[in-house]
Amino acid sequence: MTEDHRHVRREYASDALRRSDLRNEPLAQFTNWLSRALEDGLTDATAMSLATAGSDGAPSVRIVLLKAHDKDGLTFYSDYGSQKGQNLTENPKAELLFHWREHNRQVRIAGVVERTSRRDAEAYFESRPLASQLSAAASEQSQPITDRQALEDKVTQLQYGEPTCPENWGGYRLRPEKFEFWQGRENRLHDRFVYSRRDSGWQLERLQP
Ligand SMILES: Cc1cc2nc3c(=O)[nH]c(=O)nc-3n(C[C@H](O)[C@H](O)[C@H](O)COP(=O)(O)O)c2cc1C
Repeated sequence: MTEDHRHVRREYASDALRRSDLRNEPLAQFTNWLSRALEDGLTDATAMSLATAGSDGAPSVRIVLLKAHDKDGLTFYSDYGSQKGQNLTENPKAELLFHWREHNRQVRIAGVVERTSRRDAEAYFESRPLASQLSAAASEQSQPITDRQALEDKVTQLQYGEPTCPENWGGYRLRPEKFEFWQGRENRLHDRFVYSRRDSGWQLERLQP
């Protein structure tokens, strides 16, 4: 039986996004929108979907949390041996997607991902709550395990010592090549602007919705 979802719809009634509203630098525009999302207390405002594809070309996507951003890129932390880690080793091109539902906004950021330094990984690892450190140390992310108990036993084992940042765990930084800002508008006639990196700076274009 087909489940019919055609009636699930709402209007995206928000103010226009005009070229004159946009900052010259896409990073400043991103900072502006993220700050609004944080100020308004949106749940998981720093959550972003990360799309990767390994050498087989098959896309895979999952959510990670943005932990820092600056002129060099956007940083998140993960297990280098995970599926995303393997994909990024084979193909460092990736895309990030933020969706701030209550603001009728999405931002897509495409670019190339590199690992942050070991020092950076250790500094962030140490800033995390102890329980999160233990979980990261216990988990070989994306690998199968027989049952939940086996995972909890690994955590218990680690509790006897001082958790250290696993060698295979750390930061990734996506260096943006392209940003798209999407503002939902009435009747699905949305506003979209794309910044593309050029040698001379950023090229800005409006796209049809
Ligand atoms: C809200 C949310 C935040 C998450 N944050 C992270 C994160 O920062 N780093 C991470 O490795 N996984 C995070 N995850 C888990 C990932 O979505 C994913 O399950 C995991 O990284 C394994 O992905 P992979 O097998 O494709 O590598 C988060 C999941 C959710 C729903």
